[in-house]
Amino acid sequence: MSFTTDWLALREPADKVARNRLLIAELMAHLNGRVPRITELGCGTGSSLRALSPYLPAGTEWLLVDGDPALLQAARGLAEGTPGLRFMQADLGAGLEAVLAEPADLVTASAFIDLCSHAWLDRLSLAMPKGAALYITLSYDGHETWWPQHPVERMALTAFHVHMRQEKGLGPGPALGPEAAETLALMLSVRGWRVRTAPSPWHLRATEDQALIEALADGAAAALAETQVLDEETLGAWHAARRAAERVDIGHLDLLAIPPD
Ligand SMILES: C[S@@+](CC[C@H](N)C(=O)[O-])C[C@H]1O[C@@H](n2cnc3c(N)ncnc32)[C@H](O)[C@@H]1O
Repeated sequence: MSFTTDWLALREPADKVARNRLLIAELMAHLNGRVPRITELGCGTGSSLRALSPYLPAGTEWLLVDGDPALLQAARGLAEGTPGLRFMQADLGAGLEAVLAEPADLVTASAFIDLCSHAWLDRLSLAMPKGAALYITLSYDGHETWWPQHPVERMALTAFHVHMRQEKGLGPGPALGPEAAETLALMLSVRGWRVRTAPSPWHLRATEDQALIEALADGAAAALAETQVLDEETLGAWHAARRAAERVDIGHLDLLAIPPD
């Protein structure tokens, strides 16, 4: 599955606003002034680096990992001159454990774990660098409201979630889609991690976020076309209604997990 720099640039401002501030404060309280080494999984063009840097002390070291060389190149370009950065191209399906063998105080990912399977999250939790905390943001949680609502919206959203659960190379097994963050929270809690989740929704308005709303509508319509759940005419009408939405809420969850001593 590939993501374009245009799509990531389009969503970055909404993501920045949506990140849960209480969880950022808890993360900083956990770091307690320590200068951390951070590994980011699926960094894209580096939006987490840009969002978190204002909160982090000088000297913070980042290892930014992604499988897509074009996105990594864009990340390098956008971060030019920033000290303390390393970039790594790696397939986090096959190579997760090797990446996590790098020492780190914090492992983070953003808009990423909904692509991952239950087994991959298990691998993540077992391979975490010793003592490192986990901060996973902007995981899609399945809640969407589009105003005004088209009559087939509920059925279309259900079909969209089924489509999201296709295998994405971060397995073994199918992607968890909207269940990923809650699954990870439960998995870590029963293993003794101290876990907090908090909402990080997008609240989009056509007056300010038209391009993002249209891109979301187009992406979902392309996915729905593959499922063949709606006939062509209904799909077209639903797609047009979504493109013309005045307001859109999309749910996400942020998660902070501190390992047991
Ligand atoms: C939705 S994007 C999020 C990017 C970035 N974290 C952000 O918030 O803007 C998902 C990212 O995961 C990366 N990715 C997906 N599958 C991957 C894999 N198997 N190995 C490494 N990176 C992968 C993609 O290249 C993409 O950069």
